[in-house]
Amino acid sequence: MRLVVLVSGSGTNLQALLDAQAEGAPIKVVAVGADRDGTGGVVRAALRNVPTFTCRVQDHDTRADWDAAITRLVSAQAPDLVVSAGFMKVLGPDFLAAHKVVNTHPALLPSFPGAHGVSDALEHGVKVTGCTCHWVDAGVDTGRIIEQRAIRVEDGDTVESLHERIKVEERAMLVEVLSRLAADRTWRTT
Ligand code: GAR
Repeated sequence: MRLVVLVSGSGTNLQALLDAQAEGAPIKVVAVGADRDGTGGVVRAALRNVPTFTCRVQDHDTRADWDAAITRLVSAQAPDLVVSAGFMKVLGPDFLAAHKVVNTHPALLPSFPGAHGVSDALEHGVKVTGCTCHWVDAGVDTGRIIEQRAIRVEDGDTVESLHERIKVEERAMLVEVLSRLAADRTWRTT
């Protein structure tokens, strides 16, 4: 299954996919795209000789122009599926019309959507949080849920300590979900 992975940060979820691919999972990361310069994700891709591109909103006149540009860049790679793995932009209508997209989020949706899922959960005082893998629709973290993993919040947790524990589960969840989607392609027609 050909994947384009979109990143904005350190790219440890991307790394888990690259490692799973090397270990024989039925996935192939054909390109990695970023919405900003200097991401760890792009470095991780380059180290595995995976093509990369950067498409920044500020280099386009309008958000719609950016959406059209990133759609073209991704379409050129002919992916079966796009993975938003720590990609901190909302994809627009052009993109979603052209591609099926899976996102990973560091909270148990529908609780704590958006860019601050870990800190919002911690501030709320929940005792259990986790991660969610879901289809992307036009909303912010509102698409159909594919898989979730729960993590207990420990006394004294900080945003960083909690996020690190969530990410351990999140990486395993993402690899498992994509392996499952590669094995059963019925989602292509739904
Ligand atoms: C992940 O925890 C991902 O769920 C989160 O960013 C992190 C990226 O880590 N995404 C969001 O918060 C999106 N709302 P990584 O760059 O190490 O893969």
